[in-house]
Amino acid sequence: MFNTVLVVGVDGQVGGPLADHLQSQGVNVLGTTRRKDRVENGRVYLDLAEPEENWPALPDVETAILCASVTRLETCENDPTGTAKVNVDGVVALARKLAARGTHILYLSTTGVFDFTEPFRRHDCEPSPVTTYGHQKASAEKQILSLGDMVSVLRLTKVIGPSMPLLQRWSAILGQNSPISAFRDTTIAPITTDFVNFMIKKICSSKAPGIFHASGDADLAYTVLAEHFVRAMGKESDLVVPEKGQAIGQPAGPAPRYTTLDMTRERELFGILPPSSLETIIKVTKEVASSQLSAAAG
Ligand SMILES: NC(=O)c1ccc[n+]([C@@H]2O[C@H](COP(=O)([O-])OP(=O)(O)OC[C@H]3O[C@@H](n4cnc5c(N)ncnc54)[C@H](OP(=O)(O)O)[C@@H]3O)[C@@H](O)[C@H]2O)c1
Repeated sequence: MFNTVLVVGVDGQVGGPLADHLQSQGVNVLGTTRRKDRVENGRVYLDLAEPEENWPALPDVETAILCASVTRLETCENDPTGTAKVNVDGVVALARKLAARGTHILYLSTTGVFDFTEPFRRHDCEPSPVTTYGHQKASAEKQILSLGDMVSVLRLTKVIGPSMPLLQRWSAILGQNSPISAFRDTTIAPITTDFVNFMIKKICSSKAPGIFHASGDADLAYTVLAEHFVRAMGKESDLVVPEKGQAIGQPAGPAPRYTTLDMTRERELFGILPPSSLETIIKVTKEVASSQLSAAAG
């Protein structure tokens, strides 16, 4: 295990639970935030959109996990230049600074560096992004990987859990007995926060360089997630309205979309198999529904 870690982007869906988990395992966790009211001992203010000379002195750590990113596809499509300051220039400059000190770097990337036309993309497949966000992440990956052997990249498929905005939105709609709409032709290969934390610990403990993948074992339509969530909330199945997906920035047309990533390298190196996408959906929808229902019951 590693002793000291810097979680860059400690307020995010991945960074927050990761920091809590590592802390609970006895790791000395430092973090960066761009929320001024959250700066405290062990948490420094860092806005990657600001010029480098405004950045704070960075703590000396064994490992830095780069979670900070503008992750909304729509924001990246609408402001490619502004978001590239964070998603490419800022994060690469930060990685360069840390690598120069000999810090091991784990950069979190996405299955969105591919074009979603083929399942189980291998680690050595050339990126083929179709969104601005995907282009930015592919560019950052490439530049960060060129920094040497103390660099690892972990590509994630969709992380689902209680803080997933879509489940929170669906929960509020279902609470009023109104129907929720879900894409029937757009897929996810979901993974849990626990699995992401597990993968991150494996990579950071071994400091194995290069590209890693964390993916569910199958591509499932968003309607599958919706159907399980409706069931878990004790609602009628006709409250799911399947619709055709046309996510922002995706190419038009009925192209089938795949998000799964190949995990052969992780099996060979760590003995890790991809978790079942369906079991992940069942587990997470039950957890979220149960907490929503008990909150509603007061
Ligand atoms: N969650 C997923 O399903 C998923 C899937 C594939 C890949 N990933 C990758 O995993 C990483 C973490 O994702 P996430 O889901 O945790 O994203 P998130 O919830 O959107 O969190 C992103 C984090 O980045 C911070 N951030 C945004 N702009 C910043 C800036 N200018 N300077 C410094 N920090 C900034 C945010 O701060 P604020 O909270 O203050 O805005 C937040 O802490 C990302 O690199 C993402 O590409 C995530």
